[in-house]
Amino acid sequence: MTDDTKLTDEVLRAYAGTPDPRLREVLAALIRHLHAFAAETGLTHREWLAGLEFLTAVGQQCDDQRQEFVLLSDVLGLSAQVDNANAAAGATEPTVLGPFYRPGAPHRAAGEHIGRPEDGAATLISGRVTDVRGNPIAGGTLDVWQCSANGLYDTQDAGQPPFNLRGVFTTAADGGYAFRTVRPVSYPIPVDGPVGDLLRAAARHNWRASHVHAIVSAAGYQPVTTHIFDAENEYLRSDAVFGVRDSLVRVFRPAGPEDPDDVRFVVTADFALAPVG
Ligand code: BEZ
Ligand code: FE
Repeated sequence: MTDDTKLTDEVLRAYAGTPDPRLREVLAALIRHLHAFAAETGLTHREWLAGLEFLTAVGQQCDDQRQEFVLLSDVLGLSAQVDNANAAAGATEPTVLGPFYRPGAPHRAAGEHIGRPEDGAATLISGRVTDVRGNPIAGGTLDVWQCSANGLYDTQDAGQPPFNLRGVFTTAADGGYAFRTVRPVSYPIPVDGPVGDLLRAAARHNWRASHVHAIVSAAGYQPVTTHIFDAENEYLRSDAVFGVRDSLVRVFRPAGPEDPDDVRFVVTADFALAPVG
């Protein structure tokens, strides 16, 4: 046994009496992986300290408006990994919640526009919410939100009215829903903090593939936090937070004579929910 593994075993034994079984399991895995990380990289004292100073700066960037740790988790793909690990079989794939969700959006009538003409190209999004076998779910809700043409959410932009580009829609007896919004644009995630330093050090860009957010829920079903992505977006293969799933990409079809004449694009997006438990 090497000194490395002897030390790791000693630390694992020190935590083996953790009373809560789940905490015991998570701590043991964390210790094993942290020790393996230091051993594999031959981590120097300077690098260890630089890492701790970086995490300190991440914490200092957090306040009630900003969660730099979540952003760090996002750009390292950890949030996406946790989403994958918790995806329900047969249900719509989940993806990152992001920092711009705002509870309490207004309930809106089917087909209503959640934005204004100046927010972008009017787009009709509709589809059905079903269970994993395709049976319609009536009375479910879609809580949707997105940014405006300038790449900003209402919470970042004093020029937008509160709850602009946000709304809650209820599914009909056949599980159907519809709302009007605008074709989403790509936007940069914040890089004025330590996460920005990390992206620059890694020569990564900070753009999100354009998307509409949705939390789809219904009584008796596991809610899904997900996105609708635009098939034509240039960042689909390099989304800054690894949020894109092929199954969530939709075609924004130019509206034709058969479509309502107040929209420029039409999108179909169905959602499937798995039962609770
Ligand atoms: C968003 O889609 O709103 C988002 C997600 C992760 C980081 C930043 C923004
Ligand atoms: Fe977003």
